[in-house]
Amino acid sequence: MNPRNVTIVVDQDKCTGCGFCLEVCPSDTLSIIDGIAVITGENSLSCGHCMAVCPVNAIRVNALDNEMASFETFSLDKKWMKFGDFPREDLARLIASRRSCRNFKNNPVEPEVLRDLIKMAIFAPSGTNSQEWTFTCLSSRQTVLNFGISIKHFFQNLNKKAANPFLRKGLKLVGIKSLDAYYKEYYASVKDAMDEMENQNIDRLFHGATACILIGSGPQASCPKEDAMLAAGNILLAAHTMGLGSCLIGFAVEAMKADKMIQKKIDIPKGERIHAVIALGYPDETYMRITGRKKPIIRFK
Ligand SMILES: Cc1cc2nc3c(=O)[nH]c(=O)nc-3n(C[C@H](O)[C@H](O)[C@H](O)COP(=O)(O)O)c2cc1C
Ligand code: SF4
Repeated sequence: MNPRNVTIVVDQDKCTGCGFCLEVCPSDTLSIIDGIAVITGENSLSCGHCMAVCPVNAIRVNALDNEMASFETFSLDKKWMKFGDFPREDLARLIASRRSCRNFKNNPVEPEVLRDLIKMAIFAPSGTNSQEWTFTCLSSRQTVLNFGISIKHFFQNLNKKAANPFLRKGLKLVGIKSLDAYYKEYYASVKDAMDEMENQNIDRLFHGATACILIGSGPQASCPKEDAMLAAGNILLAAHTMGLGSCLIGFAVEAMKADKMIQKKIDIPKGERIHAVIALGYPDETYMRITGRKKPIIRFK
């Protein structure tokens, strides 16, 4: 009997009993009995390794939706790419050419492009393969602007509190140091930015982006933040290949963490948490060259 969380189905007529699926399974879900693969384990990560490895295509993992590997703006060669087969110089050039974009054109980002970006996001790894992502697309400049107004209000209120020395001191006395730390680190630059938004109509939060993808997690995710950032990484790189500029907006994440009303205003259910906000749009900036990076600390032991 197939336990409920195991959605693997083996076509017994096709299976040759080679055992490759057992070798790659992280959950010991399969055994070879009488020369064919049989489900004997009670757990499955539903990672699809068995389905991907089977030389005779005898396995289906019902938890996985093949549609998710079909894209609207291009067609995907579904043949698995061998280790070492992708030109590393192309990947390195893509990685190093992506830059946070802070100048966007007014053109909207087509919904099919946003949907394809999300499909690329979900091929990222996730803790225990929970794939508990949620993606909320703000797909017009107006919705991005409205979202920006909520974020701006949050920071204006926060700055009002932070500007009060008695409140900062009082909180510090009872062990809450965060407002004082915020005042020292961010107050002045946030004030300048919010003033520019308010008085000069300059979009200092979303930089004029015409779309946004908010990546969240459901309650079952084991590593929600890590999963979201990995998905975000895929989107940032994929966006560059699709002619889009992108920029992570941490200010929006912080505001949403502190003020649940912002989430409510864009109809994101209560149980979800937003871990990454990505501003997207057609870039109004071009670069000439790839630059270096700061030297990291690297250790070999
Ligand atoms: C977690 C995180 C939050 C960020 N938040 C913002 C933000 O609120 N606004 C912004 O303009 N850039 C933001 N960035 C972009 C960084 O400033 C940018 O990645 C960094 O300067 C390196 O530049 P690059 O992305 O062009 O390589 C954020 C980046 C990360 C990783
Ligand atoms: S990899 Fe395919 S053919 Fe080989 S044992 Fe598993 S299901 Fe059977």
